Amino acid sequence: MANLLKLFYVLLFLSIPVSSQLDELFYAGFKDVGTNIALSGVAEIQTSGILRLTNETSRLMGHAFYPSAFRFKNSNTGKAYSFSTCFALAIVPEYPKLGGHGFAFTIATSKDLKALPSQYLGLLNSTDLGNFSNHLFAVEFDTVQDFEFGDINDNHVGIDINSLVSNKSVAAAYFSDDSTKQDLNLKSGKSILAWVDYDSAENIINVTLSPFSSKPRTPILSFPLDLSPVLDEYMYVGFSASTGLLASSHYLLGWSFKMNGPARDIDLSSLPSLPGPKKKHTSLKIGVSVTVVVFALASIAIALYLIRRMRNADIIESWELEIGPHRFSYQELKKATKGFKDKELLGHGGFGRVYKGTLPKFQDPSRC
Ligand SMILES: *[C@@H]1O[C@H](CO)[C@@H](O)[C@H](O)[C@H]1NC(C)=O
Ligand SMILES: *[C@@H]1O[C@H](CO)[C@@H](O)[C@H](O)[C@H]1NC(C)=O
Ligand SMILES: *[C@@H]1O[C@H](CO)[C@@H](O)[C@H](O)[C@H]1NC(C)=O
Ligand SMILES: *[C@@H]1O[C@H](CO)[C@@H](O)[C@H](O)[C@H]1NC(C)=O
Ligand SMILES: *[C@@H]1O[C@H](CO)[C@@H](O)[C@H](O)[C@H]1NC(C)=O
Repeated sequence: MANLLKLFYVLLFLSIPVSSQLDELFYAGFKDVGTNIALSGVAEIQTSGILRLTNETSRLMGHAFYPSAFRFKNSNTGKAYSFSTCFALAIVPEYPKLGGHGFAFTIATSKDLKALPSQYLGLLNSTDLGNFSNHLFAVEFDTVQDFEFGDINDNHVGIDINSLVSNKSVAAAYFSDDSTKQDLNLKSGKSILAWVDYDSAENIINVTLSPFSSKPRTPILSFPLDLSPVLDEYMYVGFSASTGLLASSHYLLGWSFKMNGPARDIDLSSLPSLPGPKKKHTSLKIGVSVTVVVFALASIAIALYLIRRMRNADIIESWELEIGPHRFSYQELKKATKGFKDKELLGHGGFGRVYKGTLPKFQDPSRC
């Protein structure tokens, strides 16, 4: 009996750290998360339940992390665990087509990153860049091409290890079926689902994107990687976003995460909807200025037309009035020559054909 009790206590003791260790998260919107998300920088949860990491003001950062650390490594073997995450993001740029700066899923030793905005994406600063003792892993969704970090374009997804020089990056896209790759605009302002799957047995990390709820079978980015030396035993998971000279609002609409198993699916239609096209102000401005431009162009066109008409109008000069009319309109000449009939043709001269014509009636041009 005593032995059984002892065994029971041992089992209880063993099970406490295991069962109290949370290994799964699921947020379809962030309305009632309370203290289950730690925000810093300008990150905030809006009344609709959307988590906004940054707004459209320059050089800002926003962070959102799960408040407790996850155990990412087997302390005996030092081997990192598999994990899987799925999240819905949306990037609404201040100016269409010009993003600033980017968004990242990150696993870090701290949820209080001493980082910089702009091209640093709120992940690192200029002194710790490339320092392996940072233990930082990120999947960046970058909307600016930084030549400093060898970015491939202004719409890419990359795998970053303690650096913003991606170990591998690809232009944002998704597979609509196993072999058809479609371009995907990260800064379209529309919701995008992203999956990051790490398999610690295969030592591979996959990133999959889609504008729809169902997960494409083919990842857009697949990178052979053993995260064991990169990660510490306990790590925080979350998101970072930054703005630079150009700015975007970076939104997180939903998030699921799981250690050692596939993350729960997220249905885009179950998430809070993004703030409507709040570009009304801009479109009104554009509308107004287009109207002004059209009106100005029309006025110029009318003015030019009137000037031309005035120029082309027969100008009767004062000397003509004194000696009588010397000019006749085409209509008058046509009538007088009976439509330039051959019968009325007198001959060919240096100025062309010469016709005989009878003017119907003398008209005083001064009365015209
Ligand atoms: C963005 O957030 C910052 C900090 O909260 C604030 O100062 C700024 O006015 C906001 N910008 C806009 C465009 O709302
Ligand atoms: C840069 O980041 C490192 C590591 O997070 C931190 O120790 C350091 O204080 C930071 N430096 C600045 C200037 O913020
Ligand atoms: C890397 O970071 C660690 C801890 O922040 C620091 O002690 C070390 O000096 C840094 N190494 C370099 C090369 O900056
Ligand atoms: C990732 O890139 C950094 C340099 O940016 C390099 O030090 C590191 O070894 C690379 N890691 C892998 C797994 O390729
Ligand atoms: C990663 O992608 C490859 C290629 O599609 C696939 O064979 C593998 O099962 C995927 N692994 C994970 C963990 O998603």
